[in-house]
Amino acid sequence: MCGIVGYIGKKRDNVETLIDGLKRLEYRGYDSAGIAVIENGGIRSIKSTGKVAELQQKILADWNHHNKPDTSIGIAHTRWATHGAPTHDNAHPHIDDTGRFALVHNGIIENYAALKKQLQLKGHVFKSETDSEVLVHLIAELFDGDLMQAVAASLKQLEGTFGITVISLDSPDSLVVARRGSPIVIGVGDEESIVASDVSALIAYTKRVIYLDDDDIALVSAEGIEIRNIDNVPVSREIAKVDWSSDAAEKGGYEHFMLKEMYEQPEAISNATRGRLDRKMATGMMNGLGFSPKNLAEINRIVIAACGTSMHAGMVGEYYFEDLASIPTEIEQAAEFRYRNPIIEPNSLLLAISQSGETADTLAAVREAINKGATVASICNVVGSTIARETGRGVYLHAGPEIGVASTKAFTCQVTVLLMIALKFGRNRRLATEEGVRLIDEIENIPALVTEVLNDAAKIEEIARKYVYAEDMFFIGRGYLYPAALEGALKIKEISYIHAEGYHAAELKHGPIALLEEKVPVVALANDIPGKDKIIGNMQECKARKSPVIATATVGDDSIREHADDIIWLPECSKYVAPIISVVALQFFSYYFAKLRGCSIDQPRNLAKSVTVE
Ligand code: F6R
Repeated sequence: MCGIVGYIGKKRDNVETLIDGLKRLEYRGYDSAGIAVIENGGIRSIKSTGKVAELQQKILADWNHHNKPDTSIGIAHTRWATHGAPTHDNAHPHIDDTGRFALVHNGIIENYAALKKQLQLKGHVFKSETDSEVLVHLIAELFDGDLMQAVAASLKQLEGTFGITVISLDSPDSLVVARRGSPIVIGVGDEESIVASDVSALIAYTKRVIYLDDDDIALVSAEGIEIRNIDNVPVSREIAKVDWSSDAAEKGGYEHFMLKEMYEQPEAISNATRGRLDRKMATGMMNGLGFSPKNLAEINRIVIAACGTSMHAGMVGEYYFEDLASIPTEIEQAAEFRYRNPIIEPNSLLLAISQSGETADTLAAVREAINKGATVASICNVVGSTIARETGRGVYLHAGPEIGVASTKAFTCQVTVLLMIALKFGRNRRLATEEGVRLIDEIENIPALVTEVLNDAAKIEEIARKYVYAEDMFFIGRGYLYPAALEGALKIKEISYIHAEGYHAAELKHGPIALLEEKVPVVALANDIPGKDKIIGNMQECKARKSPVIATATVGDDSIREHADDIIWLPECSKYVAPIISVVALQFFSYYFAKLRGCSIDQPRNLAKSVTVE
């Protein structure tokens, strides 16, 4: 998804700081980049299609060798094309006709066509096909000596979402930033400020940040920050402290962020559980949920809303809440929840799961549920993210930054957190103390089990090598391993671009089996938990259609050997933990499969880390 960086201050090389920020946002996915700075009473801008490295080359060639700009204020952007192809002209920053205003924008302006027509009638000439360019012309049109007011007046006319940063020759000592539905964070430095759409772009410079709320507009200078709402009323936002180190957002010797994050899982899961298990009461302790035992007992239905990998984690959660707490639970694709006119009763809990805390559809589901009077809570990784703030109660993963586009450690931490929440709900109802203690033992053992899987990475790589020819693949599972099969298929398709489908093993016979043949491997999750005997039957069906079968199985379970061509052996564990360790194995399988096929792992084509548009 698009990335924004803005810098104001004299402490460092402005252009280098902006480019460094863009590089830290590369993981989000993009297809062009650009930069604009104010210098000597003019705006200078360079844009390029392709990677930030290409923009950097252009800057070196055009600026540094001739006349490097002497500037203390600038904005930069990585664009992920929505309106208009990834071309030079469509890349941001966009500059108005007078050359006095430059803007970078994340999000989508839904009424841009009508606004464009009005502005064209007033003589504005557009250079791009983007929706974003409309906004810089509108700001120029409405400017009456106060940039913040011109931005506010323009934003009032917009329908859609935005995170923006604007510079103007008329206000050369400050950036103006604003947001609605697309994140903007302001890094508060010492005689400098850096703004970005994602905290990872600025943690190398400062750990003190301000997260803007929707419809906040901020005037950001090197010395201070003034925030007003869209109606020009001053508002105050607190300065938060980011606890991620800048090293955590770098690769630390691993070839890819995805690999690093896969290896970080034992530690990330330990962090997610630390201080959250109460052995004495045999329950989970998640104070951020803010439920008294009475509140907990009153909740009689849970709806989980999420997208993608987070949705697969939520599917595991559905099993947990029903098995451990006997609470009717549904998992909803967040966009469906929003548009389906969902039934929310007074004692329903909407639980939103989102690594980034910024996914547009999940956020919209939260707002819909709040509007319908539900209690809402969230499981997010990014502290201070919009979903975390708007739900007001919830549990942070503490998994550290997830930079790789393919989500890995977020999934295993989300599932672990869901298990702890279900334990808390369960103990509030019928779950006995001994069962609670047994679950705590299991949860505390998850990092060790995941480590065992990590230690077998080389064996998983060998299996992936054997099937690297495959252009189609199926992943099947049952019960707790059904969501794991979906997640395995999602991982492989997003980073290796082959056609992969995740299915409930029983569903195979209802159609997809027609596609099986000797070039279509099936990955069957056959760990020794309830459902195994049935999946053996499904594996036989696959073999009968000549599909090679790769199984996950529990160490020592020799009954699987005769039904599979290759086996990824996994440590023994309960059904509650099986989806976590199985997905770790499938992450490695997908990673090596993609790597052996020469795919771009951290920035897969067409994908964005955080989907902040519908
Ligand atoms: C897959 C992946 C996506 C995200 C989805 C939701 O590897 O990363 O499917 O899981 O876009 O994102 P969050 O969790 O940030 O709401």
